Amino acid sequence: MSTTSPELQLEKISRFIGGIMRGRDPDLADHLQRLDAQAAQFGRQIGLSEQEATLLGIGAGIHDIGKLCINEHVLNKPSRLTSAEFFFIKQHPMAGYQLLAPLELDKRITDCVLHHHENFDGSGYPHGLAGENIPLFARVVRIWDSYDAITMNRPYHKGRSSSEALAMLQKDKAFYDPALLGSFSEMMRTAPSM
Ligand SMILES: [Fe+2]
Repeated sequence: MSTTSPELQLEKISRFIGGIMRGRDPDLADHLQRLDAQAAQFGRQIGLSEQEATLLGIGAGIHDIGKLCINEHVLNKPSRLTSAEFFFIKQHPMAGYQLLAPLELDKRITDCVLHHHENFDGSGYPHGLAGENIPLFARVVRIWDSYDAITMNRPYHKGRSSSEALAMLQKDKAFYDPALLGSFSEMMRTAPSM
């Protein structure tokens, strides 16, 4: 019988998924890898235990696994999406959740996959959850995901600076948990190289 700890097993699963994502889209894999480390560090800063911070990092690091199920031409389309294409892209949280179901992972991890596009004001997807009905880990990933997407370079998008990204998050602050956004902004202002 294996003596591997549950956390180590989860990290192996996470690395396995990371390898698959890298084969499909290296930029997306880099984005997920950054989120894994950064969300875990942020989790420690907001007072999560070491085990919870590890789970948060794993959830953040695989949150977009459902994009494996979405046509990559649609996913990487540089021009404006049609409403049908946007509809397909919006299926990726549920697709990822269903893909992971046989593994019976900790719910806090699968919450990141299913709910990372829920908005604090209830305008997100897939379930239109609002406020603290959105699981905590998913509320954290929502912020990091947006920040990293704004600052990263893509073939069709030049990454913005950290201060520009923070200003953009403020502009859309209705989407994010205000307390977490405050902690996040504070952390990025004092350590903008993260
Ligand atoms: Fe996503």
